[in-house]
Amino acid sequence: MVTIFRNLVLSAASLFLLNACQAQVNADKAIHYCAVQADKTLKLIPADTLNIPRSISSNQRDWRFVGYHDWCSGFWSGILWYLYEGTGNSKYKAEADKFSLELAPLAVHQATDHDLGFQIFNSFGNGYRLTHDPAYKKIILATADTLATLFNPKVGTILSWPRAVPNMEWPQHNTIIDNMINLEMLFWAAKNGGSKKLYDIAVSHATVTMKNHFRPDFTSYHAVVYNKDTGKKIKGVTHQGYAAHSMWARGQSWAIYGFTMCYRETKNPEFLDFAQKVSDVYLKDLPDDGVPYWDFNDPAIPNAPRDASAAAVVASGLLELSTFVKDKDKAAYYRQQAEKMLRSLSSGSYQSREKNSAFLLHSTGHQPAGSEIDAAIIYADYYYIEALLRLKQLKNTRSNRP
Ligand code: GLY
Repeated sequence: MVTIFRNLVLSAASLFLLNACQAQVNADKAIHYCAVQADKTLKLIPADTLNIPRSISSNQRDWRFVGYHDWCSGFWSGILWYLYEGTGNSKYKAEADKFSLELAPLAVHQATDHDLGFQIFNSFGNGYRLTHDPAYKKIILATADTLATLFNPKVGTILSWPRAVPNMEWPQHNTIIDNMINLEMLFWAAKNGGSKKLYDIAVSHATVTMKNHFRPDFTSYHAVVYNKDTGKKIKGVTHQGYAAHSMWARGQSWAIYGFTMCYRETKNPEFLDFAQKVSDVYLKDLPDDGVPYWDFNDPAIPNAPRDASAAAVVASGLLELSTFVKDKDKAAYYRQQAEKMLRSLSSGSYQSREKNSAFLLHSTGHQPAGSEIDAAIIYADYYYIEALLRLKQLKNTRSNRP
């Protein structure tokens, strides 16, 4: 009888422990996994100018490699910097430096789009944060000035795509929600020796975007077209989403991450409030595992592809947002949602493991163009490891624990 009772107690205790373990993401284990995968990728890098891994098609093993002009060129060196930070292994520092330096010409080339922040701040920005190498700082400052050449003061935002793109009524002015992320480099430059005007440009861009880029329910348009001379909004449209009126998952993820970052940089409570609003509408219609379908309004759901990259961006953004929100329950909610996303992404359903050498499967790049659908994509990996490092730091500081 006593034995049966003891076994019952032990089973209950193990069940409790199992649940508790399932509720936790083991950030160290996941970072180690990322290092193992990156080591495999490092062995696959071709001796070519197109040597930066970008994506692996569904059910394939081979990376598509790109050169430094590609908008995704900064994620791989950013990942290597994060691996250096997460493991302390100087091998990653040397690789990160090498791949970052390939991007240096972007600092002085004429700006061909807004992606300069993704390219230069993820690479050199992380590099400078970890090394304080003055050469990196020079490159970031020059690139911030280059990005600022795309600012249109009549509109108050950066021209995201200075070229003819369908639906954007070129030569009118277009701004895409993704552009929010690139403001971080401008904020940084203004604080680190660059012109103070860069701060004003970033604030103006975020403020005008907040006003024009969202529907009354706080879902984002992918792109907004403005009259380039009067600054008047012409229309909200999509390029990578399902429809003009739909919530493209990664677009909303850029908004969540971007307005959270704008609050960090400005401490303007309007940005904090807005970051919560754009998060709440995203969180309310997610599938159970916290990884969205590529567009929340695709009528093919539940047979539509997922977008693990959006989940990774949102997980990272929500971890930061959870540290700013004063209401303890709301902060805990954001943290729990982020951990749930990371738990799903760290499971066998999303990690690539033996299938290929990326970190994550199941991202969607450009569904309407039929490109990178249900693929492994480098920016999913970048925000995944960033989120893991943020989680590890939060756990270490024990701040804001739910
Ligand atoms: N243009 C960046 C993205 O595909 O999200």
